[in-house]
Amino acid sequence: MKIFHSTKIKSHRPAAYFVYADGNERRWAAGELPVSLLVQAREDGFTGKPGSLATLRHGSQKILLAGLGKKEEADDNTFRSAAAAIVRHSVDALLPVVQVVPPNASPRSLHALAEGAILGGYCFNTYKSNKSKPASLKQLIFITATKKPANAGAVGRAVNFARDLINRPPSDKRPMVLAKVARTLAGRGVTVRVFGKAQLKRMGANALLGVNRGSAHPPALVHLRYRPKGMAKGSVVFVGKGVTFDSGGLSLKPADGMMTMKYDMAGAAAVFGVFKALPELKPSMEVHGVAVLTENMPGPDAYKPGDVVKAMNGKTIEVLNTDAEGRVILADALVFASRLKTDAVIDVATLTGAATVALGKAYAALMSNTAELEAALRAAGEQAGEKLWPLPLEKTYLDHLQSKVADLKNIGNPGEAGTIVGGLFLQQFVGDKPWAHVDMASVGWNGTGSLLSPPGATGAMVRTFLAYAMGTPKAEK
Ligand code: BES
Ligand code: ZN
Ligand code: ZN
Repeated sequence: MKIFHSTKIKSHRPAAYFVYADGNERRWAAGELPVSLLVQAREDGFTGKPGSLATLRHGSQKILLAGLGKKEEADDNTFRSAAAAIVRHSVDALLPVVQVVPPNASPRSLHALAEGAILGGYCFNTYKSNKSKPASLKQLIFITATKKPANAGAVGRAVNFARDLINRPPSDKRPMVLAKVARTLAGRGVTVRVFGKAQLKRMGANALLGVNRGSAHPPALVHLRYRPKGMAKGSVVFVGKGVTFDSGGLSLKPADGMMTMKYDMAGAAAVFGVFKALPELKPSMEVHGVAVLTENMPGPDAYKPGDVVKAMNGKTIEVLNTDAEGRVILADALVFASRLKTDAVIDVATLTGAATVALGKAYAALMSNTAELEAALRAAGEQAGEKLWPLPLEKTYLDHLQSKVADLKNIGNPGEAGTIVGGLFLQQFVGDKPWAHVDMASVGWNGTGSLLSPPGATGAMVRTFLAYAMGTPKAEK
């Protein structure tokens, strides 16, 4: 699906309009649409709720009406959902071209509409032999008086790029394969460096190497860097967990628990997604990315419960559960990232099943050692339409990580604040750098799907991190 712009609407092509609705008074408004059509839609039971859709005919023209709810309550998310609803219907109804008449001409709404259309139109069919329906949606034409806003689709495309990587079968995205994908992101202000097994040995990344021992395929650490033209205003490094498949290792997961574990690299995918969009969005912040990549497998030389590994900063970790591998590889990645001269370190990982127990699937868990960073990330999430909720880094729970033989062990007390303990573990590897940890295990995968995300990978946190890198505008109201 491609997005185009045109100043004129054509009456022989389907057209989609947006409708505000006041639930009580049932006041309707929709651009230049005959009132009779709105009345008909209402008679058909269309309420104009956000995300709802009505299909009508105006002579020979097919008309779609997308609900926006009450005008006072409509925000970017309402626009995203409405555009997604239009695209979903158009794909299902095999419409090849649809004209979209935006509810207003502000660049911000046009961005939100384009983003929603691109996210809602996502489809992972790389592995289907029968790829395209005969007339599935090819063009979405925005009808606007002014010319199209710059990079309207960049964020949506970056999310879909991450989704494609996450949905890809695990045997087709081993570490070096993903490193090669990362290399394609180089250019236009972005540089990419890949550290392979030999270099990781020299660097002393023995925590990562330990987790990798059970796998037949070497690990990799990818360092990406975006430099703005001119003086950078601030800097950040995003660090992503990239376990390309998490079997649990010798502490093997049950079959059901493994079914979706190709998404255990969703943190790394989020970092790659961010770098896909940076050259288009051109923030004035300097942005680094670190993706730490390995499989977690129970191969013949696999690391074992009871093993001790030494991270890059010299701290020793007793591995009592090989399935708590994310924190072990992130230990090295965070040491690496903390040595970069950035203002903040932000890691993102599908770290704990407990995140879903604590918050359900609507929220990612956020932990930070710095109140401003925590607030900035929550604000970025709000703007981007992704929800983050803070959890406390309760110092007394550090006791849970006390090891009898090493500096710390990789699991805490069963059933006690698993997500927080995961965060506390990671904190041991960032020194006193301003740092935040996003546990995205709860939001990275959506088995049933939603308007903005078909079932499977959600591509979560790409949007939030891009909003953070662009600098969230101060409250506009
Ligand atoms: N990748 C998993 C976490 C996970 C679980 C993500 C379910 C998404 C859905 C992680 O490596 C893991 O297995 N964590 C363990 C930690 C425990 C052994 C302390 C967990 O959550 O059970
Ligand atoms: Zn695991
Ligand atoms: Zn994992």
